[in-house]
Amino acid sequence: MASFKSSLSFILLIALLATSSLLVASAGNFNQDFQITWGDGRAKILNNGELLTLSLDKASGSGFQSKNEYLFGKIDMQLKLVPGNSAGTVTAYYLSSKGSTWDEIDFEFLGNLSGDPYILHTNVFSQGKGNREQQFYLWFDPTADFHTYSILWNPQRIVFSVDGTPIREFKNQESNGVPFPKNQPMRIYSSLWNADDWATRGGLIKTDWSIAPFTASYRNFNANNACVSSNGVSSCSSSSSPNSSSSASTSNAWLSEELDLTRQERLRWVQKNYMIYNYCTDTKRFPQGLPTECKS
Ligand SMILES: *[C@@H]1O[C@H](CO)[C@@H](O)[C@H](O)[C@H]1NC(C)=O
Ligand SMILES: *[C@@H]1O[C@H](CO)[C@@H](O)[C@H](O)[C@H]1NC(C)=O
Repeated sequence: MASFKSSLSFILLIALLATSSLLVASAGNFNQDFQITWGDGRAKILNNGELLTLSLDKASGSGFQSKNEYLFGKIDMQLKLVPGNSAGTVTAYYLSSKGSTWDEIDFEFLGNLSGDPYILHTNVFSQGKGNREQQFYLWFDPTADFHTYSILWNPQRIVFSVDGTPIREFKNQESNGVPFPKNQPMRIYSSLWNADDWATRGGLIKTDWSIAPFTASYRNFNANNACVSSNGVSSCSSSSSPNSSSSASTSNAWLSEELDLTRQERLRWVQKNYMIYNYCTDTKRFPQGLPTECKS
């Protein structure tokens, strides 16, 4: 009996180890999921695909993109931004489709002098039209460690989150005539580049090339809950077909996820304390009236 018990606990231990290694394995691998697209050696995939770094010097920045295209998803990435004096640098991390009426969901991190706050700039384009900027300060130093930046994109809403805290929600308001990104698959893109003509205090503070190269790091990409789109076929339409396994149907809950009351309260907390620009309140910019989606 004793030996039966101990072998049972041994089996349980093995099962636990197997599950946890599965969880680790399900965090994305940069070699598998991404390709470096520019920068002539300035972008690097390290540690067997667990880490990616982008760098920028006076000659060039660098960038990468996802191999897959997605049509809806809940996508997480951990970023550690350029530390120290990062004034003039911009780290862009976004989803975008192609063509002249493209859709796009943007995170952009505008660097600053040492000790001065980064600006997290966000935008949503639908059918080629953006002009929907919201900007935030963060409640932590984004250069001291990795933090998780997430996009939930389903047919009803786009939610931008930082470490699980929602900072922005863009709802589907097609019923009010506002186009919503829902037909064009998007790829994930990221780049580190110089934008000292506008990024830091409107271009007042220039990049200090004497301290180049500047480096931003990425890890723990997760798109386990996302619909990969390939030649017009979505991975979700096959897994949500009748009689799909129960795990597939529960994992598709994100496709109709909304913000519960707790998260709505967190969103209001961020918007009240950390939002520094909101196009929806910029009446000077829109003398003809605020954009439709701002009115409700
Ligand atoms: C940089 O710091 C200044 C001073 O605190 C601040 O006004 C500005 O919003 C910060 N961020 C950027 C990107 O300019
Ligand atoms: C799904 O399962 C139900 C009940 O088990 C069965 O009656 C039905 O034919 C199945 N449908 C498909 C498409 O396999």
